[in-house]
Amino acid sequence: MKGIVLAGGAGSRLDPITRVASKQLQPVYDKPMIYYPIATLMDAGISDILLISTEHDVPRFADLLGDGSQWGISIQYAIQERPEGIAQAFLIGANFIGGESVALILGDNIFYGGNGFREHVERFDAGATIFGYPVRDARRYGVVEIGDRGQVLSVEEKPQSPRSNLAIPGFYLYDDRVVEFARRQTPSARGELEITDLNATYLELGELNAVRLGRGVAWLDSGTHESLLQAANFIATIEARQGYKIACLEEIAYEQGYLSRAALADLVASMPVSGYSDYLRDVVLG
Ligand code: G1P
Repeated sequence: MKGIVLAGGAGSRLDPITRVASKQLQPVYDKPMIYYPIATLMDAGISDILLISTEHDVPRFADLLGDGSQWGISIQYAIQERPEGIAQAFLIGANFIGGESVALILGDNIFYGGNGFREHVERFDAGATIFGYPVRDARRYGVVEIGDRGQVLSVEEKPQSPRSNLAIPGFYLYDDRVVEFARRQTPSARGELEITDLNATYLELGELNAVRLGRGVAWLDSGTHESLLQAANFIATIEARQGYKIACLEEIAYEQGYLSRAALADLVASMPVSGYSDYLRDVVLG
């Protein structure tokens, strides 16, 4: 399965932090935000990745992440000219997807805990799979309503009166028809190709599956000053307690077998001395 990370948008809610570099380049404790969604893809076994961002920020992401070969993966880049919706990612990424199934993750979505998404990626066959995560205020998100037998009853984007408390996080799995469905979509009232409309297309076909994420999973927001700090504090707390780093891409690459121990050692030797590389030196020593 291929992976797309969509890291567009002006991030104006974080102004003035985002005047020079976009939201997804900001730190969440000890690493840039974009590391977290990339880690989620790598943990799920996805190593062929397209990162979509603005013309302004693609060069910065490329500076930070390169072509991925340092982690034994592939990262390509594409530009979203204007913020015309999440589903536009499938038009921009049509050639990249090239007849395979694809996971889409939003560049500001941070997941921690549970068993990750690997089993869902491995089990994915056809149709679309979305997730449902309990939140206190579902009106801020896409919302999924799930029936007694696990069937999806409805999906709605930012409803005034949500039919459930299950928000739809920014991680989605689609078969290759997603490109064709996105092509047929028309922009919503706010001028965007809505991801929820795309999910509704699969629902109409009876091919939308929803998986309830357990309460042991953390899905963190990082779109406001307050939630960004909360996310950083959350990561710092877990890392300090366990002594393990969350979303350390070099470590994940090694664990997934994308990098040998020798290649990891070389990579770490080339990194400046920091708490981050100190941690990786310990990983190399095993
Ligand atoms: C977008 C989607 C929404 C989803 C959310 C997850 O909202 O439109 O369905 O629940 O991402 O982060 P936005 O961040 O554009 O408000």
